[in-house]
Formats: sequence, structure tokens, C-alpha cells
Amino acid sequence: MGAQVYAQKFEQIARTPQLGWNSWNTFGCNVNEKMIREMADAMVSSGMKDAGYEYINIDDCWHGERDKNGFIQADKKHFPSGMKALADYVHAKGLKLGIYSDAGNTTCAGRPGSRGHEYQDALTYASWGIDYVKYDWCDTKDINPVSAYSTMRDAIYKAGRPMLFSICEWGDNKPWDWAKDVGHSWRTTGDIYPCWNCEHNHGSWSSWGVLPILDKQTGLRKFAGPGHWNDMDMMEVGNGMTADEDRAHFSLWAMMASPLIAGNDLRNMSDATKQLLTHKDTLAINQDKLGIQAMKWIDEGAIEIFIKPLEKGDYAVLFLNRDDVARDYSLDWNFHYMKDDISKHEIFFDKKRFNWRDIWTGEKGTTGSQYTTRIPAHGVVVLRLSPQ
Ligand code: GLA
Repeated sequence: MGAQVYAQKFEQIARTPQLGWNSWNTFGCNVNEKMIREMADAMVSSGMKDAGYEYINIDDCWHGERDKNGFIQADKKHFPSGMKALADYVHAKGLKLGIYSDAGNTTCAGRPGSRGHEYQDALTYASWGIDYVKYDWCDTKDINPVSAYSTMRDAIYKAGRPMLFSICEWGDNKPWDWAKDVGHSWRTTGDIYPCWNCEHNHGSWSSWGVLPILDKQTGLRKFAGPGHWNDMDMMEVGNGMTADEDRAHFSLWAMMASPLIAGNDLRNMSDATKQLLTHKDTLAINQDKLGIQAMKWIDEGAIEIFIKPLEKGDYAVLFLNRDDVARDYSLDWNFHYMKDDISKHEIFFDKKRFNWRDIWTGEKGTTGSQYTTRIPAHGVVVLRLSPQ
């Protein structure tokens, strides 16, 4: 007789990486109910909801004080109607509402954390109709991460409302080793910054551009799968990088089966940003049911090629140009072989032919002949291969 398992997470959630929006990257602590309602409106009117986006997530700073019994309340000034009313509004739009807390006594912005209040907080969130809990790691000094996150997982499960549990401890305690049965995704790195290849130094910590975050994923793909994803952090699409950088950022996050959580102001985004965030072929790569994170297949320094096995024998192939200048690149498929020990996929390109389609230009071809392309600086080219 095996040990009885009491602890569980809601398994039916995030079978493909979660799609949504989060307030932090653009608004930081300036969150209020009017803005959140407008963001839900914009998720619908922009076509993002139709493209598959679902979660509207309020990050840090929604909190007011705990009441005399220790129950957390929303900040009365910025959320005068309360969280239940906000959740009702978001649900009426066909969307879901996410909230943020922290395993320590205080959140990263100094608001009340959930330490010692885990069951109470999970119950409160459930009573409000919350669907997603991002759980941060500030002010945790002596706390054991596995037990802290497991306690909140248990509290959410006991509260009885399916809520996606998003672990955010920045990869500090190797969550990929222990979080599969604890959360639905775990951050793998420190915070993102809207730049291509920079480290933005804040003194005691740094935030990171697109390439540093990508490079920190090395070795992690074997830990991801349906219901438990490597989270490369909320996106900076539309937040100041160039069009090519934004496209590379979005495409890479999609290939890596990362949650795709927009971090821009959805109310006034450019057409280019809207087109990118709702790009069907890219989202299909991210949302593919196999849930296999891309692997780096070919590494030639400035040019890297990633490949992601998809349903029905398809593959997504992404050519990344890390360089500051555009580069021409040729690939003679026939001389290449692909073997993925983790997902057990193998392709002998000299024996098996594929049709390919460039998911942005619509250009078509086959792997029977050499492929030549120009990859923009800080850019990508993405092909979808289908067996002939
Ligand atoms: C940490 C997290 C961020 C954000 C802020 C909020 O830095 O990693 O994603 O939630 O806290 O204070």
C-alpha cells in the first residue's frame, strides 16, 4: 500500500502554456480596477481573446490591509468595488482573473505577503472568483521553498476552486527539480527587461534582456510538459524594442513553450504589436498539444536554429540571428539529421521529405532543395514543416 497522497494541484489547468496579460511590466504598482476592466475590454476588442488569450492578471500592489481576523482586503482606494465585482466583470467578458501574492511576510513591493495566511488567502481568492495565483519569493529569508510553495498549492486545492498556480522564485531554488506537482509553471530567471542582449543592474539584482533569458533555459526543456511549464517571464512585446526584436522575443517564447503573458498596455497598442500578439501560426506552435519545448538543434554562434516537434509529424524550425547585422543563411536539409533524445523524435532529412511554409511571409518550399534566407539583425525566420 503506497502512502496516501493528500496534496494535489488542479491537473486540468494549463495543459498548454497559459495565455494572458499581466500588469507589472507596464504599470508596476499603479494598478486600479478601472484600468483592469479596460484591459479586459481591450483583450476582447483587439482580437486577443479570439486568438486564445484568457487571463487578466493583476500583479503586485492590489493589496490593502488585513482585517482584524487576518483576511486580506483589496486596496479600497484603487479597488473600491472590490475583487469579487472585478472578477464578475472579467468573467462576463469570457476571461479569467489572476492575482498576485508572495510566500514571505511582504511582497516585493512591500504589501502583505501570504506567510502564515496561506489557507486564509486561498479561501479568500476562491470566494472572490480568482482563477490564477502568481506567487512571488521576496522577504523569504529562512523559508524552505519546497514547503512554502507546497503549502500554497495545498491551500489552493483545499479552497476547492481551480486556480492556476504560477511559481515565481526566479529559478533560485531549481524549481524544475521539484515543482512539477506543485505549480503549473515556474519562472526560470530573474525579471525581464525590454532589451535584446542586456543586463540591467538594479544594485542587489539584475533584470535581463531577451537573449540572456533565452540562454538561461539551457538544460531545462526536459522538465516542461502539459501542466508544468518553464516560464521565461511576462513579455515585453510592444514595450520599446524594435519590430524585429519583438518578433524574435515572441517567437522564441512561443517555441520554448513558455506561458505567453503580454506585458504591454493593450488599450493603445500599435497595429504591429496587435498583429504579433495575435499571430495564429505562432500561437499554434506555442499551444501545440504535444507540449514539447523546442531544442537548440544547430548552433553556429550568431545563428542558432531551434526545432519544436508538433502534432501530426509537423515541426517548427526557428532561425535566430543574434547579431547586430542581417545575415544570409543556407541550410542544405539533406546533410542534416535531427535527434531529440528527450521527446524521442528523429529526422533523417535525406530520407524523409517535408513541405515548409514561412509562417510570416507565406513562402513555401520543400526540404528536397537547399533553403536560403536572410535573417534580420536581432531577428528570426520561422518555418513550419509538414511531412510530404
Ligand atoms: C518580482 C517578480 C516580478 C513582479 C514584481 C512585483 O520582481 O519577479 O515579476 O511580480 O516582483 O513586485
